[in-house]
Amino acid sequence: MKILLTGGAGYIASHTCIELVKANHEPIIVDNFYNSQKEAINRVEQIVGKKIPFYEVDVCDKEATRIIFEENKIDAVIHFAGYKAVGESVSKPLAYYRNNIDSALTICELMIEYDVNKFVFSSSATVYGLSETVPLKEGMPTGCTNPYGWTKYMIEQILIDFAAANKNMDVVLLRYFNPIGAHESGLIGEDPVGIPNNLMPYICQVAVGKLEKLSVFGDDYPTPDGTGVRDHIHVVDLASGNVAACEYENKGTEIVNLGTGIGYSVLDMVKAFEKANSIKIPYTIAPRRAGDIATCYADATKAKKLLNWEAQYDLTTMCRDSWNWQSKNPKGYN
Ligand code: WQD
Repeated sequence: MKILLTGGAGYIASHTCIELVKANHEPIIVDNFYNSQKEAINRVEQIVGKKIPFYEVDVCDKEATRIIFEENKIDAVIHFAGYKAVGESVSKPLAYYRNNIDSALTICELMIEYDVNKFVFSSSATVYGLSETVPLKEGMPTGCTNPYGWTKYMIEQILIDFAAANKNMDVVLLRYFNPIGAHESGLIGEDPVGIPNNLMPYICQVAVGKLEKLSVFGDDYPTPDGTGVRDHIHVVDLASGNVAACEYENKGTEIVNLGTGIGYSVLDMVKAFEKANSIKIPYTIAPRRAGDIATCYADATKAKKLLNWEAQYDLTTMCRDSWNWQSKNPKGYN
């Protein structure tokens, strides 16, 4: 299949590109480099040993994006592109709604025009909102606590209606849990702009000496050691989940969690990272972060049943691969 990856130079998309090539598909990358680097594409080509067709385009720009559909007979789209910083979305809600919703609508309209009938969307466990019921299952209530999460929630609804109105349309909404890790080569990985919001990239920057110590946001949650529990999943597992979703043939919409089904606390992550890499991670206990919930992890059974997919990588491998990328690229792609 010829598959268009919007936001294709990004962290999860670049890993997905590699897994698509390994599965004998033909990925095409479109990215405007708002939150990614062209170098990531060079590294992907180095890993797969072939050129990947690439367009430097903002997918909110319909006429510019149209060229891609004119020049390529596309079989499926995986829509990764979008602003994704929770905190930034609170201070810039209009930019998030405009960019994330517009880009999704533009892709849908072009898919209709060019008879492309397979849409895989990068949604997020964040749509489960403040639900304290775990494990989280696809049919459970949704609701969000920040504009970023609401854009994911709204795009899910847009795609459900889009599929219902177009009987040949096949939509899979993938709800990612917490992606960490990197390709085994250490050539590609997560390269956050500025100080990382997320736990693992922050730990890695402490390990590489870029940041002094980790602040653990709260140790008074109702969890085994009082710190937040999350379902961390290897980015290569997420990538293979995207391949499985592309290859899955259905009509209408399916919502699928991509998680390991295992929850690890912040202190579990610190200890696992230290053990896997023989590196000490200094930390202090800080106040809770606004908007955080105590525990979040997936019921991953539907992905196994529907897509014959389950996470393969364990926590030690996730920690080792995260560090392998960071230690080889202390300044990311720059
Ligand atoms: C994990 C745990 C923090 C940083 C977010 C988005 C979600 C998705 C994944 C896009 C929590 C604690 C963190 C730090 C800490 N992104 N923590 N010190 O918040 O579960 O999910 O990223 O889809 O939409 O909401 O991930 O890595 O930020 O936090 O103690 O410096 O680590 O309190 O318990 P989160 P996270």
